[in-house]
Amino acid sequence: MKIFGIPIFPEQASTFAKDVDALYFFIFTVSAFFALAVAVSVIYFGLRYHRNHDGEIGARIEGSLPLELLWSVIPTLIAMVMFGWGASVFYHLRRPPDEAMQIYAVGKQWMWKFQHLEGQREINELHIPAGRPIKITISSEDVLHSLYFPSFRTKMDAIPGRYTELWFEAQAPGTYHIFCTEYCGTNHAGMIGSVTVLDPPQYQAWLQGGGIEGTLAQRGAKLFTSLQCDTCHLDAGQGRGPSLRDIVGTTVTLQDGSTAVVDDAYLRESILNSQAKIVNGFKPLMPTFQGLISEENLIALIEHVKSMSPKGATTAAPAAPPAATGAAPDRPEKK
Ligand code: CUA
Repeated sequence: MKIFGIPIFPEQASTFAKDVDALYFFIFTVSAFFALAVAVSVIYFGLRYHRNHDGEIGARIEGSLPLELLWSVIPTLIAMVMFGWGASVFYHLRRPPDEAMQIYAVGKQWMWKFQHLEGQREINELHIPAGRPIKITISSEDVLHSLYFPSFRTKMDAIPGRYTELWFEAQAPGTYHIFCTEYCGTNHAGMIGSVTVLDPPQYQAWLQGGGIEGTLAQRGAKLFTSLQCDTCHLDAGQGRGPSLRDIVGTTVTLQDGSTAVVDDAYLRESILNSQAKIVNGFKPLMPTFQGLISEENLIALIEHVKSMSPKGATTAAPAAPPAATGAAPDRPEKK
C-alpha cells in the first residue's frame, strides 16, 4: 500500500495478513480518534474558558456519577474488544496447523540459514510452496536475532540455546522480504534476505534441482554414527543408553521420578547437556556435547531421531500438490 507514492504497508501475502491488518487499523483508528478528541477539547476549553480578568473565580464542580460511569464503561468495553480480538488473532498466529511443512532456520551474525527436510540448505534465501502452511523452527548460533516476514505479518525471536517457532501460509507466488528485527551487532541492518514463493509444482521442481548430500535425517544418521551415538543407543534397549526408536512424542520417566515429554527441546537438552535429565534405569555416562556440535548438526541429529519415530515425527513434504484443501477457488489473485 502506498500513500503519496511512499510505500507504507507491505503486501498482504499470507492467509492471516488481512486479520492482522484489520486489527491494527482498528486499534490505530480508535487511538487516533481519542488522541484527536482530547487534543481538540484541550484547545477548545483553553480558549473558551480562559481567565478574562484578575480575580475571576471558576464555578465549583462537584462531579457527576453518570459521567464518571460513562467514561469508565465505554473505554473498558473498547479495551475488551481489542483484547478479545487481539487474543484470537494471536492464538491463530502462534499455533501451527498439524499438517504444516517443517523448515529449520538458524540465525547467525549476520545471516539466516535455512534447512529443508529434503536436504536443501539456503542462506538468506528461502524457497517455499504457495498455499501450504509452513512451520519454521528457529534457533541462533550466537546472539538474539528475530526472523521477520513483513508480507506474511509474522516474526519470532531467534534465541540462543532454545527453539522457537512461527508459521504462515503464503497465498501467491512472488518474492518477499526477510528481515532481522532484533539489533544484533554491526551488520544487523544487512541481515536481510528474500523468500521466494513458488507454485507447488515449481517447488517440487526446485527440490529436485541442485546436488544435495541426502535428506536432513540422512545427514543426521551419518552424524549419529560418526559421533558414536550408535554404540550406546542400541535399538533393542540393552545398550548403555535408552533406545531412541519411537520415543519422539512419548513421555519418559526420569531418575528422580519426574517425567518429561520427548520433543525438540528435550532432545536438544539431552544432546548438549546430557546430565540434565537421566532416564530412569540408566547411568549418567553420556558425554555432553555443549560447544562441540553446531546448531545445524543438532537439527540434523534431531531429525534423525524423529525419523526413528515415524508416528510422532514431522516428515518431509509429500510430492502431492495440496489440491485436496479446496482453498484454491476463493484465494484472491495477486495484484
Ligand atoms: Cu540479526 Cu539483527
